[in-house]
Amino acid sequence: MSHTADDRARLGLRESATFDRSTIAAIHRAAETGIYDIRGWGAKRRLPHFDDLLFLGASMSRYPLEGYRERCDTDVVLGDGCAKFPLHLDIPTTIAGMSFGALSGPAKEALGRGASEVGTSTTTGDGGMTPEERTQSKSLVYQYLPSRYGMNPDDLRKADAIEVVLGQGAKPGGGGMLLGQKISPRVAAMRTLPEGIDQRSACRHPDWTGPDDLTIKINELREITDWEKPIYVKVGATRVYYDVKLAVHAGADVIVVDGMQGGTAATQDVFIEHVGIPTLAAVPQAVQALQELGVHRKVQLIVSGGIRTGADVAKALALGADAVAIGTAALIALGDNHPRYAADYEKLGSAAGFFDDFQDGTDPAGISTQDPELASRFDPVEGGRRLANYLRVLTMEAQTIARACGKSHVCHLEPEDLVAVTIEAAAMARVPLAGTEWIPGQ
Ligand SMILES: Cc1cc2nc3c(=O)[nH]c(=O)nc-3n(C[C@H](O)[C@H](O)[C@H](O)COP(=O)(O)O)c2cc1C
Repeated sequence: MSHTADDRARLGLRESATFDRSTIAAIHRAAETGIYDIRGWGAKRRLPHFDDLLFLGASMSRYPLEGYRERCDTDVVLGDGCAKFPLHLDIPTTIAGMSFGALSGPAKEALGRGASEVGTSTTTGDGGMTPEERTQSKSLVYQYLPSRYGMNPDDLRKADAIEVVLGQGAKPGGGGMLLGQKISPRVAAMRTLPEGIDQRSACRHPDWTGPDDLTIKINELREITDWEKPIYVKVGATRVYYDVKLAVHAGADVIVVDGMQGGTAATQDVFIEHVGIPTLAAVPQAVQALQELGVHRKVQLIVSGGIRTGADVAKALALGADAVAIGTAALIALGDNHPRYAADYEKLGSAAGFFDDFQDGTDPAGISTQDPELASRFDPVEGGRRLANYLRVLTMEAQTIARACGKSHVCHLEPEDLVAVTIEAAAMARVPLAGTEWIPGQ
């Protein structure tokens, strides 16, 4: 019988802050299995985040816009540097790269359907491009990753933009993982790998040793695609100020900065929780680097890692991002962790709202799996409709906030519209602590 909190208080049982119940369970698990914990999702610890910022809506000194009568635009152009065909998106929220392999074919198709319905882009991932996601995605960004799994020049040419991935927020400095149970015949064929054998992707590109080689690579990619497609560079947030400067110097049209809350399909828990910096801390560093080079708003900045609401979108834009990308929230919108699968999650030793075993391929929602039976539970048309609805809500929420701050475009939001409710968030986001003029460190 387990004690309630009241029982424990009566019995004088005290939980250790250092060795709390989850730490004890983790030590027992390690002692029993001798293997480290691998899981999906992003960092679960509490970190300074967009929740710690608030908007200063208009009152006397600022003039708000009327919600139902005055326009507040949301469109964004990405990669209008040297590419012949920049991406014109209707909303500033894009779908982040998530691999076919990590996700089922129908889930990838649904991401394309949902994104296209509301005029935004989606992104391939480690393992290549599937025909169904290409067909369903009006704007598809093709990831060029260290592993080169599924990479081929024909698909580069079929894409609308190319994203050179140097790292991810969940695991900067680490490569991908796809466990054997998800290496189905189709995944194996696309990646030229044996079926059913655990796969670890490379953590660095095979043909470069530093930023100068990135310059050569970007030029190569431009040549292969006839200078048509914008080239993005994606980094996991660590030394963001320097990485952004180096990526701009190498010729990137768009920089993607993914903070440590960013999701993953499979990574060591110790990596997810202990490497990288919070998204909130990464954005001002990236913006500073772009401003110092005189290219802020010319080289666009996409921010990801823990974006959930229109308020998060608006806050990222106010700090200087041009757009955001979502991974985890998009999967939830498709139906991941839905209470309708409560009984199935329980059988797996998890619960709706807690399921993070994307690596196992046992996802009852049929999203992070390659099991044909589970995947067939997921309807890509319905999933796409749900995602489109969710993206519409994010957009309307961001517009509501922008109008209240007197902006006729969501991208006109600025740091001046924000305050922080904690000293940590004020220092990281470089906005004043609420009710003061104080920005710690400045
Ligand atoms: C299931 C899943 C698979 C992913 N696969 C990739 C990938 O193949 N390449 C990549 O660069 N990032 C990958 N990511 C990371 C996302 O592109 C993105 O950086 C991250 O999900 C953003 O944070 P969020 O999940 O909090 O929105 C993956 C994330 C998830 C959840």
